[in-house]
Amino acid sequence: MPRAPARVALVTGAGIRVGEAIARDLARHGWTVAAHYRSHRPRGFAAAFAGDLATPDGPARLAADLRGRFDRLDLLVNSAGAFAAVPLAETDASVFDEQMDLNARGPLLLVRALARLLARSGGSVVNVVDVGGGLVPWSGYAAYAASKAALARLTECLALELAPRVRVNAVLPGAVLFPASYPAAQRRELTRRIPLGRSGTPADVAGAVRYLAEAPFVTGALLPVDGGRHLSGRAG
Ligand SMILES: NC(=O)c1ccc[n+]([C@@H]2O[C@H](COP(=O)([O-])OP(=O)(O)OC[C@H]3O[C@@H](n4cnc5c(N)ncnc54)[C@H](OP(=O)(O)O)[C@@H]3O)[C@@H](O)[C@H]2O)c1
Repeated sequence: MPRAPARVALVTGAGIRVGEAIARDLARHGWTVAAHYRSHRPRGFAAAFAGDLATPDGPARLAADLRGRFDRLDLLVNSAGAFAAVPLAETDASVFDEQMDLNARGPLLLVRALARLLARSGGSVVNVVDVGGGLVPWSGYAAYAASKAALARLTECLALELAPRVRVNAVLPGAVLFPASYPAAQRRELTRRIPLGRSGTPADVAGAVRYLAEAPFVTGALLPVDGGRHLSGRAG
C-alpha cells in the first residue's frame, strides 16, 4: 500500500526557544517541517525560510517561499512574537505598533496568504498567544497584552470564517521560558503564583500544539498551558 504523504507544517520563529521546541516536536512526530526564522537560522528541518513578519509584505513573501517549495500545507503555527515589558509612560506609537505588527497583524496576513493551501488539505492553524493579554490583563505590558488579546480574538474570528475546511486554534502559554533578563527572585515569585507549582516547559507548549493540530472536531479553542495561573486572577 502506498504510504500517505508526510504532512507539512510551517512554524514561524522556529530558530530558538518555544518556536524551535514546537518545530522539533512536530518533526519527531512525523511532520515535514518548514522552519521560519528572522535571525536565528534553524538547522535540521526539511526547509528553512528567512523573513521579517512585522513588515506589511513579509507574511506574503514567506507564503510565496513556502509555495515555491511545497505543494501542500497541513499546519501553520504562528509562534514568532515580540515581548515588550513597557509601562504606559513609555508606550508610544512605535512601541504599540511594533507589538501589533508582529504579534497580531503578522499572523493574520500569513493565514490570509496561506488559507487556500491549508483548505486544500483540510489543514489547521495554531496561534501562540499568551495567558497575559490573551486571558488576563497585565499591568506594565499594555501594548503586548493588547496584541495578544487581538491574536486571541483573531483566532476565533478566523475559526468561524475558515470553517469547515480550516480549523484555527490557539495555545496560551504561561511562563515556560523566562526572558534571560529576569532575576532569580522574580522567577521564584512568578512560579509561586502557579497552582501546579512549577513553571512550564517548551515541551508542554509543543504537546498542546500537536494536540490541537490533530484534533479534528476542535476549532476556535483558546487552550491555556500555564499550570492554572490564569485561575488565580492575579494580574502581572
Ligand atoms: N517564553 C514564554 O514563557 C512564553 C510565554 C507565553 C507566550 N509565549 C509566546 O511564545 C512565542 C515564542 O516565545 P519565545 O519566548 O520563544 O520568543 P522569543 O525568545 O522572544 O523569540 C522571538 C521569536 O520571534 C521571532 N521574531 C522576532 N521578531 C521577528 C520579526 N520581526 N519577524 C519574524 N520573526 C521574528 C524570533 O526569530 P529570530 O530569533 O530568528 O530573530 C524568535 O524566533 C511568542 O509568541 C511568545 O509571545 C512565550
